[in-house]
Amino acid sequence: MADKMSAMQQAAKLRQELQHYNYQYYVLDEPTIPDVEYDRLLRELQNLEDQNPELKTIDSPTQRVGGQPLQAFTQVKHKVPMLSLGNSFDQAELNAFAKRLKDRLKSSAEIEFVCEPKLDGLAVSLLYNKGLLIQAATRGDGRTGENITENIRTIGSVPLKLQGKNIPELIEIRGEVFMPLKGFSVLNKKAAAKDEKTFANPRNAAAGSLRQLNSKVTATRPLEMCCYGIGVIEGGSVGTSQWDMLQQFKQWGLRVNDQIKSVDGIEECWHYYLGLEKKRNSLAYDIDGVVIKVNDFDLQKTLGFVSRAPRWAIAQKFAAQEELTTLNSVDFQVGRTGALTPVARLGPVFVGGATISNATLHNMDEIKRKDVRIGDTVIIRRAGDVIPEVVSSIKAKRPNNAKEIFLPKKCPVCNSDVIHPEGEATARCIGELYCPAQRKGIIQHFASRKALDIDGLGERLVDLMVDNEMLKTIADIFRLKAEEVAAMERMGENSANKLIMAIEKSKATTLAKFIYALGIREVGESTANNLANHFGCLKVIEQASIEQLLETSDVGDIVAANLYAFFREPHNQDVIASLIDSGINWQDIDVDAADEKPLAGQIFVLTGILIDLKRDEAKAKLISLGAKVSGSVSKKTTYIVAGESAGSKLIKGQELNIPVKDESWLLQLLSRY
Ligand code: IVH
Repeated sequence: MADKMSAMQQAAKLRQELQHYNYQYYVLDEPTIPDVEYDRLLRELQNLEDQNPELKTIDSPTQRVGGQPLQAFTQVKHKVPMLSLGNSFDQAELNAFAKRLKDRLKSSAEIEFVCEPKLDGLAVSLLYNKGLLIQAATRGDGRTGENITENIRTIGSVPLKLQGKNIPELIEIRGEVFMPLKGFSVLNKKAAAKDEKTFANPRNAAAGSLRQLNSKVTATRPLEMCCYGIGVIEGGSVGTSQWDMLQQFKQWGLRVNDQIKSVDGIEECWHYYLGLEKKRNSLAYDIDGVVIKVNDFDLQKTLGFVSRAPRWAIAQKFAAQEELTTLNSVDFQVGRTGALTPVARLGPVFVGGATISNATLHNMDEIKRKDVRIGDTVIIRRAGDVIPEVVSSIKAKRPNNAKEIFLPKKCPVCNSDVIHPEGEATARCIGELYCPAQRKGIIQHFASRKALDIDGLGERLVDLMVDNEMLKTIADIFRLKAEEVAAMERMGENSANKLIMAIEKSKATTLAKFIYALGIREVGESTANNLANHFGCLKVIEQASIEQLLETSDVGDIVAANLYAFFREPHNQDVIASLIDSGINWQDIDVDAADEKPLAGQIFVLTGILIDLKRDEAKAKLISLGAKVSGSVSKKTTYIVAGESAGSKLIKGQELNIPVKDESWLLQLLSRY
């Protein structure tokens, strides 16, 4: 018993000592004992815990070495969204930011700001319950991130337990995880020596290290974290300003960047920025600008947020970096929507901290505007995490054999035709249903609720099935076998059977839904409805001329051209034939009978919020009575039904003198039939 007590006391003492040395080393950057001594104490604690496993605690420094590898990261929903920042690129933009603040606050008084380096890493959230680190997550899309707790626990500058006084019941600390330049260079040298892949820059290295499913690997990576904000806080406070909060962080043992400064007025922010830009190359880590934040929390609250960024902060970015290189060739990449993007293949060049060999040329119009040719010497620009781009070519250096860049006639992925409609910036592959590059997006759309509504066939499953080559086209959905679905990761027999049943059920549909499900460019739900009601059957739509398509309400030149091209593409024809073969069915619409229906020939536009009727229901009922329901107001519109908060459509209707009715009128009309 006495022995146990002393082991427990000894472990507690060692833990406290190690935590203290850790804090001095990582947070204060002032190591007080040599590394070998630290390692000796850590080994001593490890031995004690090995002999007395009940003494292990989750905040023990021995718990930083990584654990069992994970199968996958789980998701974490951020209770308070993790926002991004608005950018400023010069002094005028920064002054405009300050003016916006003063206008909003209705005060001309100088504002107090905190200036912080904008660390070039990844935003991470740490959740401390009663001072113990219980969860760490990536930013993800700002609302949902990934649970990377095991990986974060390996980072020395992240305390496993907060120290000091006034520790809140629950607090979510936010900050940036990054890899210092020295550690990055050692890591890459080691990788190169072993003939392994090296990282392009410290940011990618930090991202790759945090994305490790095996936290033992993360533990070997030289990551650090600086804290700069909070999310949730319960049962406690961090003070009344950004500055106070950062001081409080330090007292809790969290690392805060040592370049932070509190300043008065925007002019001083600009000086801070210029000063940091000069220092930039001597810092131990990459930064891509300065973050300027209103200091006072009350003012922050008054200023609030706009879309996904706070009004009270801005990122003042360092100027983009530019370099010269040669344009060796141009490839065309096909995106999920079929858009072709020209990508410049370059002589490798070091710009803004990374070696670049590819850059975007955006689209054909940009190539023409910039007059770029293959063989040219070009200027490449890279700003922070923005995709590198070709800015222009140097005409004086153009070789005689420089070659003009042409848009390919055939899709480089599936060999279908490429179209480039007049007046549009983007060229597209028209092999929509067939082109592998477009598969995932098209299959997801086909299965979505308003299309064939295949319950259970969501984004994740579609992605997996396309990657596994189980789905090449939408027609393959109907060839899926329960056994092969059940054999997929995280699926099982039950969910596989459910999915197959949902697929079977989806075969009975309507012509409108089927047309919508095909995902033809610009053909939304309402246009699909109009096409179905106008033509009544698929064959007629497939064979319709451009002029005939244009007779449908809401179909203009672009939609007609899209439809016409889509149904003439042989790959698309094959997929449609195969879908019908597999049993997809609907009732054709008797178009002539529609004339006898009570509302035949009338065109309705529904706008604003309907209270008693759902918009979908009202629309379905009107269509069943022979009316057309259009998404836009034109001279042909018979009635506009305006619900609450109706906006531009109502105004346009009034301009065109179209009769405007309210919801009760519509209810009465529908009740007559
Ligand atoms: S504050 C609501 N402070 O920059 C405020 N962000 O472009 C949101 N970043 O996602 C962030 N250093 O990853 C803040 N001192 C700093 C920062 C910083 C780097 C990153 C962070 C954020 C991104 C926004």
